[in-house]
Amino acid sequence: MLQAERAQGKLLPEYHRATPECPHPERWSMYDSMTAEVEVLEFLRTLVTTLKPNLIVETGSFLGVSTIWMAEGLRANGFGKIVSCEYDPVVFARAKEKIEASPLSPWIELRNESSLEMQVDGTIDLFFSDSDLPIRADEIRRFLPQISPQGVVLIHDASSHMKVVREAAFELEQQGLLSCVFLNTPRGIVLAQKREGRR
Ligand SMILES: C[S@@+](CC[C@H](N)C(=O)[O-])C[C@H]1O[C@@H](n2cnc3c(N)ncnc32)[C@H](O)[C@@H]1O
Repeated sequence: MLQAERAQGKLLPEYHRATPECPHPERWSMYDSMTAEVEVLEFLRTLVTTLKPNLIVETGSFLGVSTIWMAEGLRANGFGKIVSCEYDPVVFARAKEKIEASPLSPWIELRNESSLEMQVDGTIDLFFSDSDLPIRADEIRRFLPQISPQGVVLIHDASSHMKVVREAAFELEQQGLLSCVFLNTPRGIVLAQKREGRR
């Protein structure tokens, strides 16, 4: 959080280390090492305007930057909402402050809850998994029955140097739960869809 505050919104070259699948991370940009890469934020916003989701669920709000970028997509669409959860109460308080000061706040429901406990009503059209690395498989399994078969699951931090999330994505695929495409950004993002219910 300190790093994000010190940077004051300035862009830095991405400094997660090179991986075999992404040998030039410095070609990407970041605000800080917790917030998704800037190019991934752009991708999230475009995905929202492309897919027109009614309901987005995000796990791991951190300071609400990815939440706000997705909410920009909702505002452009003119409908929908994003429910985002942040487990840490101190981080949640900062994110809440920021979101309340933003014109995008009507599109956002921010919760100080764990993704492993949060209850959300309705069918999820876009699920963005970006919380604690070791719990990703559990949170995805937990929300899977509520995710639309036509919807999209995004799993951030799936690069080979953040092995635990990459392995979780492979495992969910091997168990027949998801079909995954691995997009090679510095931190890695998986674009996936539920296998069950596809027509
Ligand atoms: C990588 S950051 C999220 C970055 C944010 N999505 C963005 O790109 O702007 C991960 C966040 O998940 C939070 N977190 C950890 N465990 C969680 C849980 N079980 N439920 C919700 N949030 C959690 C952490 O406190 C941290 O702020």
